[in-house]
Amino acid sequence: MRITVVGGGYVGLTTGICFSHLGYEVKVVEKVPQKVSMLNEGVVPIYEPGLEDMLKDSLRLKRISFTTDLIEGLEFSEVIFICVGTPQQEDGSADLSQVEEVARLTAEHMKSYKLLVEKSTVPVNTHKLIKKTLQRYMKRHVEFDVASNPEFLREGSAVKDFLEPDRIVVGVESERAKNILQKLYEPIKAPILFTDPATAELIKHASNSFLAMKISFINMISDLCEKTGADVKLVADGMGYDKRIGRAFLDAGIGWGGSCFPKDVRAFIKMAEDYGVDFSLLREVDKINVRRIENFIEKVKNALWSLKNKKLAVWGLSFKPNTDDIREAPSIKIVSALLREGARLQLYDPKAMDNFRRIFPEGEDLTYARDMYEAIKGCDALLILTEWEEFKKADLERVKHLLKLPIVIDGRNIYEPAHMRELGFEYYCMGRR
Ligand code: UDX
Repeated sequence: MRITVVGGGYVGLTTGICFSHLGYEVKVVEKVPQKVSMLNEGVVPIYEPGLEDMLKDSLRLKRISFTTDLIEGLEFSEVIFICVGTPQQEDGSADLSQVEEVARLTAEHMKSYKLLVEKSTVPVNTHKLIKKTLQRYMKRHVEFDVASNPEFLREGSAVKDFLEPDRIVVGVESERAKNILQKLYEPIKAPILFTDPATAELIKHASNSFLAMKISFINMISDLCEKTGADVKLVADGMGYDKRIGRAFLDAGIGWGGSCFPKDVRAFIKMAEDYGVDFSLLREVDKINVRRIENFIEKVKNALWSLKNKKLAVWGLSFKPNTDDIREAPSIKIVSALLREGARLQLYDPKAMDNFRRIFPEGEDLTYARDMYEAIKGCDALLILTEWEEFKKADLERVKHLLKLPIVIDGRNIYEPAHMRELGFEYYCMGRR
């Protein structure tokens, strides 16, 4: 079977390359010519563990190719996965212009049956808008279907999440579409939930918003722990033993970021309120997340008094480990606030410094270090913003020796407070004694 994927971002590349790995012939349409030539050379323009090796394999087996030409892509297969960006607009709603463009051009060029599959995160009932566009712009009567097949992959573990998902959600309106997608996903051993398209579209937003809510909940508890002397990590453990709650996504810290949670939560609020449904619960979830930044800056100031001319080391810039992605990363707002306070920063991240430099160029008050130990040399304190493995395994004696003052302010709770005190550190973290 042949598959066309429109959009060469995280979801599009993972979808296309993994499907080619499963043996399908795949053509990926990507607008940016430089990305297309890199990809046809076997180079993936994002850092995602395992994806580049898988691409090289599929190129060698001539199972995948990349083009900027949408029409070529549309003519390549009857199954078209829409994986284009749906960025956030001013009012919080999702910008669907790229989805609309794919639908319109498909209508103008289709000569035979097409199954358009939404994989981008889109508001509920977007499938109706796609159908209407196809009916309006088609040049001759051609059968088609529109399905919803949301993606649940996480950055940093995208390949594994695609090939070993907890579930596959498919929203269809016809047996024909159902049979095609059932056959397509046969090689992946996971439960498939077949629903109508609107339900499938909502499952995506609801899932991401629920996960964001879980994190905001534990961050709220973390604040209470700080006031009462309780330990948020143990509270989360205690809650998590209850299978109805689960321990996952109960790690308190400086809040959620990335290309999904922030925009999906806001789009969900906007969408629901457009339908006249009160989503104030999610508004609170977002507010709690925004307050994590202020909370952390307060913690730094309480530990160090004035930050003016204080030399601070920052470990971690990506929004989470195992990715170079800094979109809506808490580090962006924290670094801005520290610079406003007059601090001088030495930054280090294993993968995300190139992306971060585009927003924060090197200057008098901000430098990028070659490695994590160079970053802390002579600093008044070390701030931890992303829980990379290498930070967890740091040589803490060496850290103490290199720092001017043994002060660590940990926004991701990667160390044990008691152990840090034994080593002679002043250790401040989130919701722990
Ligand atoms: C998320 C969803 O998990 C995924 O299913 C969906 O397809 C896309 O959005 P991703 O954005 O890659 O994936 O990141 P995720 O691993 O979910 O983390 C999101 C944010 O929450 C990160 O900033 C992370 O640091 C934070 N987080 C996560 C916490 O603060 N605490 C936790 O316990 C878990």
